[in-house]
Amino acid sequence: MSGTAQEFKELYGYPPEGVWAAPGRVNLIGEHTDYNDGFALPFALPQRTEAAAARRTDGMLRLHSADTPSGVVTLDPAELDPARPPKGSDGWAAYPAGVLWALREAGLPVGGADLHVRSEVPAGAGLSSSAALEVATALALADLHGIPLTRPELAALARRAENAYVGVPCGVMDQMASACATDGHALHLDTRSLRQAHIPFDCAAAGLRLLVIDTRVKHDLADGAYAERRASCHGAAAALGLPALRDLPYRELEQALARLADPVARSRVRHVVTENERVVRVEALLRAGRLRETGPLLTEGHRSLRDDYAVSCAELDLAVATANAAGAYGARMTGGGFGGSALALIDAEAEPVVTRAVTEAFARAGHAPPRITVAAPSAGAARIL
Ligand code: GLA
Repeated sequence: MSGTAQEFKELYGYPPEGVWAAPGRVNLIGEHTDYNDGFALPFALPQRTEAAAARRTDGMLRLHSADTPSGVVTLDPAELDPARPPKGSDGWAAYPAGVLWALREAGLPVGGADLHVRSEVPAGAGLSSSAALEVATALALADLHGIPLTRPELAALARRAENAYVGVPCGVMDQMASACATDGHALHLDTRSLRQAHIPFDCAAAGLRLLVIDTRVKHDLADGAYAERRASCHGAAAALGLPALRDLPYRELEQALARLADPVARSRVRHVVTENERVVRVEALLRAGRLRETGPLLTEGHRSLRDDYAVSCAELDLAVATANAAGAYGARMTGGGFGGSALALIDAEAEPVVTRAVTEAFARAGHAPPRITVAAPSAGAARIL
């Protein structure tokens, strides 16, 4: 029995029917494109959230997390309402409660369950701990209650839980990465059609490493800045007469910018359109096995997020600049920004040098020590017991 299953048994007094796991993600390129119907290229992390679960016959939902001291939360699914969330269905519990709510809202025959979760995905690090929790819960509930959902359908329901129940206006990239990624591949994602392609991305075989540098600056997507970027993009698309910024081709960018009076809107549009183009270029390089050549595009993506989209911060900029100065092929912030993590593409042998350089630069600048790990593209969500 896995550790999570054992904990379930100790907690609830009987063994779970199964254990489901869903990973966090790192986005290689394609940032702030998903709510513009654009492209992204994330991959799944080896770190996962596990959910041990069993059906209940009385329809109730009991939730427990090994990672928070909140104890067992008992909820009546019929009373879940985003406008009036019942007591206990806030904080971390809002994510699994929101998933059950979204399944019910979609008219799916989901019943009650006991759930115990444990996560290895650090929270607030920009590595999608929320999506991991949502997708693990959604997969557990769908499997337990025999609800046949495709992975994109599952991801879309998880996103709906986060948007409508938790109240975070995120796009679908994180949930899709967690639900659909495959081992050794990046997931090329069209966030409009939810069409996906699995692009071989074997850094180790190419003598490369992907460093994930968690700045330890907590980001908070519920914070107004994310919603503001989103609204600004949707406003600019409307002003240009387009359904979404995805519909503005890269070669028409300059003419379109000339039609926008607001300099801030121009910058936001420039980021989104150039970022979609970078996804296309990085994907082509990965397909051609030219991994090192993606580096400059990663760094260009960072500059665009820093200068045009204004979602970086001092710690992310320092991590990127220091990694590049220490020999990285390229580096960028990953995820929503305002904190969280950066990634750097480096030669395998350069790992100690780059790690030390970044750690020392943080110390010199008076920042808290960063948490630096190596990420290998890993498998998406699965039943593990
Ligand atoms: C967060 C959101 C995603 C996406 C990224 C930025 O991770 O959850 O939907 O918008 O920010 O690319």
